[in-house]
Formats: sequence, C-alpha cells, structure tokens
Amino acid sequence: MQYRKLGRTGLKVSPLCLGTMNFAWKTDEPDSRAIMNRALELGINFFDTADVYGWGGQKGDTERFIGRWWKDDVRKRDDVILATKVYHALPETHWEPNRGTPGLSARKIVRHCEDSLRRLQTDYIDLYQMHHVDRACPWDEIWEALETLIRQGKVIYVGSSNFAAWDIATANQVASRRHLTGLVSEQSLYNLDVRMIELELVPCCRHYGVGIIPWSPLAGGLLGGVLSGDGVRRHDPNLRKKIDAKRPQLEKWEKLCAHLGHRPADVALAWLLHNPVVTAPIIGPRTLQQLEQSLTALEIRLAPETLAQLDAIFPGPGGEAPAAYAW
Ligand SMILES: NC(=O)c1ccc[n+]([C@@H]2O[C@H](COP(=O)([O-])OP(=O)(O)OC[C@H]3O[C@@H](n4cnc5c(N)ncnc54)[C@H](OP(=O)(O)O)[C@@H]3O)[C@@H](O)[C@H]2O)c1
Repeated sequence: MQYRKLGRTGLKVSPLCLGTMNFAWKTDEPDSRAIMNRALELGINFFDTADVYGWGGQKGDTERFIGRWWKDDVRKRDDVILATKVYHALPETHWEPNRGTPGLSARKIVRHCEDSLRRLQTDYIDLYQMHHVDRACPWDEIWEALETLIRQGKVIYVGSSNFAAWDIATANQVASRRHLTGLVSEQSLYNLDVRMIELELVPCCRHYGVGIIPWSPLAGGLLGGVLSGDGVRRHDPNLRKKIDAKRPQLEKWEKLCAHLGHRPADVALAWLLHNPVVTAPIIGPRTLQQLEQSLTALEIRLAPETLAQLDAIFPGPGGEAPAAYAW
C-alpha cells in the first residue's frame, strides 16, 4: 500500500478511506466489525464516519459500533486515522437552539465533540470535519471552538465537507490570521457522474493544499455495474429512477469497462485516484467482498485515450472556471 499525504499535512493515509455510512444502516454490527478488521489487514488506515450515521436505526450508532470495535484492542485505535463530523442535530441531544439543531456554533461544536468522543470511546479525533458550512456563524467563533479542542488534544486536524470553494478560501484566510493550520481536507460529492467540483473547488483545494476525499465515489452504487450486478442500494427506488434516466450512458460505461477488462467499480475509483488533488476516495462497501475488490483500483493505470473516452461518456463541466465557460 502506497500511503499518501493528507493534503499539505505530514499525515500519511491510505489511498482508500473506509466509509462507514452503511454500518448500522445496511450492514449489521458483526459484518461492520469484519469489514473494519479486514480493512486494517489490507493496509487501509483511514476511516470516515459522522456523529449522525446510523440513519436507519439510531443516529450515533455508527460511532458506537466503532467505539465497541476498538475498545477491546487499543492497538486498533492507534492504527486508525479516524475522521468524524459535526453539524447535524442528534436525537440524544435534547432540543435546544444552540445544540439540538444543525449548525456550528462554538457551543455546539464543543458539546458535540464531547458526545462523539464518548460514543467512540476514545480521547481524540484525528480529523474533525464540519459536515456542512454554517454561513450564519462567524468564522472566528468556529475557529475559536476548534482551536480549544486542538489545544485540549481532543482534535488533531480540521477538515470540511460539502463546502463551496469560497467557503474554503474564507475559512483558511481567517485561520491563517489566527496562526492556525486551517482546513486540511474537503469531503465532496465527486465521481464520474457528478463532476461539478472540477469548476471551482478542485483548483481552490489545489491552491490551499487541501486534500479532497470524494464521497460516493460510485455515485451511491450507480457506477458499480448496476446493469449487470446485484446489490441492495440498487433496488432503492431513487437509484432505480437514476438508472432508468441514465441507461444509455451506463450501457456505454459498462461496455467500456468490459473492454478494459476491469470491474466498473474499480475503474470509477481508479479515475478518481488519477487526480493529484484527490487524497483518497471514501469507499462505501456494504460487504466484505466489495471491500476486498476495491483494492484492485490501486493497480489500474488509465491511458490518456481511456481518460478521453471517459470524458466523452461523462463530460463534466469542461474544465476549471473561468476558462471552462468564458473562453
Ligand atoms: N460528507 C457527506 O455528506 C457524505 C455523504 C455521503 C457519504 N459520505 C461518506 O462517503 C462514504 C461512501 O459513500 P457511499 O456509500 O455513497 O459510496 P459509494 O461507493 O458511491 O456507494 C456505495 C454503494 O456502492 C456499491 N458498492 C460499494 N462497493 C462496491 C464494489 N466494490 N463493487 C460494486 N458495488 C459496490 C454498494 O451498493 P449495493 O448496496 O447496491 O451493493 C454500496 O452500498 C460513506 O460511507 C461516508 O463515509 C459522506
């Protein structure tokens, strides 16, 4: 496994990040444990979760799964670079305007971090990410709360998720004024089917040394060979609608992958890994087999003509702003 630096930091992480959103939702606790154990065995040391995951059951359950998993073996905690998130409301926080609602007030950040540490049964978070931007809260307030957590040793790095490019620029300018490291990573929706971030966010992250960790690298399963294979999410009515709407495009995609001799999921991950601003796609395996198969992506090199064929099937915005639309 060739480890990569997370953005401009000195932190080395695996080129695939294990997403845990399926845990406590589509994947039960024993299977989730098996996936985490196997990920570590395979050299995947970067795990992503969120305080709110556990959608299908109790929000917070995914962090609880992780906490129970490494409780009996502290080496596991040491081996994992753990990323979690703050922003959403959680049922276990009783309703109150500063805590039980979505947002990033200083009070909310500090209290929710304590809740995550309790559920995760750990005393630190490697990468604490803002799940969404809160434009109603001043950046100085947000950074003050995060700086407090860093000084207390509860948080090591700070990242963002679902930010616009100008949010990252603003956040990092304020952080720099406060002599802080600022954002080191951005978790965005990015895959062959959804390429909007190439316009503004990709150049912004390159400029600031912010590592992109794409979420839904298979577009929620759409790029995982949906026309031929089977799965759980692909029976979801929303995904079925997308499959019907994109069938001609997906037929070309799966045909190209068959011609290349690779599984569609592996090609989709390999395409993301070709972008130097991408640190690690966040894979969302539902099963052990899907996890193990994902490793193949690390061995795939896509030739320039293949990249051009992929651009023809999934055109994207046509480059970076303003050149993509102005000249
Ligand atoms: N920051 C955010 O707002 C945000 C939002 C969403 C997700 N995330 C993070 O990103 C992670 C990944 O997102 P995602 O779960 O949507 O990712 P995804 O990889 O786009 O979709 C996962 C689905 O793809 C299929 N799949 C996974 N591995 C496969 C393989 N090797 N071959 C074929 N099919 C495969 C499975 O579908 P079937 O069940 O049909 O087999 C699986 O449920 C999450 O776990 C979470 O950590 C973050």
